[in-house]
Amino acid sequence: MKGISIEFPGVKALSNVDINIESGNIHALVGANGAGKSTLMKIMAGAYNHYTGSIFLNGNEVAIRSPRDAKNLGIEIVYQEVDTALVPYLSVAENIMLNVLVNKMGRQVFVHWPKIHQAARQILKRLNIQIDTNEIVQNLKLAQKQMVLIARAIAEDCRFLILDEPTAPLSNTETVELFRLLKDLADNHNVGIIFISHRLPEIFEICKDITIMKDGQVVTRQSVADLSVAKVVEFMLGQKLSEVFPKRKANIGDTLFEVAHLTEKEGSVKDVSLYVRAGEIVGVTGLVGAGKTELCKTIFGSLKTKSGDIKIKGIKRTINSPFSAVSQGLALVPEERRKEGVLVEEPVFSNLSAATLAKFSTPLGFIKSLLEKLNARNMITELSIKTPNENQKVAYLSGGNQQKVAVGKWLNADADVFIFDEPTKGVDVGAKHDIFELIGRLAVAGKGVIYATCEFTEILGITDRAYVMYDGQIAKELETANTDEEKLLFYSTGGK
Ligand SMILES: Nc1ncnc2c1ncn2[C@@H]1O[C@H](COP(=O)(O)OP(=O)(O)OP(=O)(O)O)[C@@H](O)[C@H]1O
Ligand SMILES: [Mg+2]
Repeated sequence: MKGISIEFPGVKALSNVDINIESGNIHALVGANGAGKSTLMKIMAGAYNHYTGSIFLNGNEVAIRSPRDAKNLGIEIVYQEVDTALVPYLSVAENIMLNVLVNKMGRQVFVHWPKIHQAARQILKRLNIQIDTNEIVQNLKLAQKQMVLIARAIAEDCRFLILDEPTAPLSNTETVELFRLLKDLADNHNVGIIFISHRLPEIFEICKDITIMKDGQVVTRQSVADLSVAKVVEFMLGQKLSEVFPKRKANIGDTLFEVAHLTEKEGSVKDVSLYVRAGEIVGVTGLVGAGKTELCKTIFGSLKTKSGDIKIKGIKRTINSPFSAVSQGLALVPEERRKEGVLVEEPVFSNLSAATLAKFSTPLGFIKSLLEKLNARNMITELSIKTPNENQKVAYLSGGNQQKVAVGKWLNADADVFIFDEPTKGVDVGAKHDIFELIGRLAVAGKGVIYATCEFTEILGITDRAYVMYDGQIAKELETANTDEEKLLFYSTGGK
């Protein structure tokens, strides 16, 4: 791609970008949130036609102005926004074979369902994933949805495969499977792969070359072997980042919140007991599917409880809906941001105050929009949210910046206990640092924090104590100071 530029109202997203992708190679594309990675790849996949610049394939100029153009050239993309790319009410098989089906329907060919399911099963087998092809996609977990999207992209033979943060919802084990497949596609099928990720160590694991972007431009293209993580961060942010995890002096007080023998109605959470003290950050970790998200949702009243007790500041309470959770001083930052965390059709400022409207309302219930906007401007600065201004629709922000809005709206909440479910997913290293700092400040202010993540480095970096989940249960409780990645992995994989 040569001299690619594109503008949106008020935003110059790319200016004069050059990038070369080779067959049989895994090429990393990195940059801070809002740098322009997804936009560049959407152009390559034919999602936009109002860009300038040229695209060449084997030295010949080609026209890519629609998704159909890109597909005809063998370019497949797995978009960052998992939810918008899937058809929720269709089965796994239909979603995987969607492109094939659509092509067939255009030509009025009879659809042979057993064959469709068989083909889908074969692809899943190649990916080493166990998902029933008859399952309806909306019932899947986020990680499974991601796998379905990847399966769809390889359902048709492709020459170029673009993966926009494919590993964000995956844990280590699933990532290993994905990498095995990507290496196979590159080495044995000569596919050119473009790999976008904010987990920089992954880049060093599987990519040969790297293109680094900043503010809509390419900063450098190099061979990965010649770089280090610190150097990549420096190129991305334009400055050195000394440490990702800010230091915090823990000042732990009385127990704020506790659950005893909590069991979720469908059994996704079984007999969980845990507590959080004032000023404490408590981690909840485990592999994808261990029940972390379900635990957060059960505590928060968005999943039904079968049995168990909840105590807030020593007093027994009932939480049977998110509304009752919020009114009793709980806040939850959910995992699936587009679905549950933000209102994409609303502007940034109203999203940032959505969780704390009471603060911005007059006694008669009118919203003090000036205050609301001031609050938004503060948060935009604190979290370096990349947006032309606070009035921009959230849908127009980059993936990572949407996540910052989802987290930011809760950071001002008048809650005593904050629950974060994978808050740094898809967020660049600089912004991770900012989020950790704000979470640390909550703890210093005497709040209790429950922090769920499958990233062991984050557990080690910011928590005081951690619970490891396995199969819906707490397998182990650990003092963070006395643990390491090995122990976390041991208990996460069912070790006793
Ligand atoms: N449809 C759109 N309308 C307005 N602005 C847009 C649109 N799409 C992208 N942008 C803006 O273009 C810039 C680049 O966004 P892009 O999504 O390419 O970033 P990214 O590098 O993929 O970031 P992330 O790591 O957060 O996914 C951002 O400032 C974003 O807000
Ligand atoms: Mg992106």
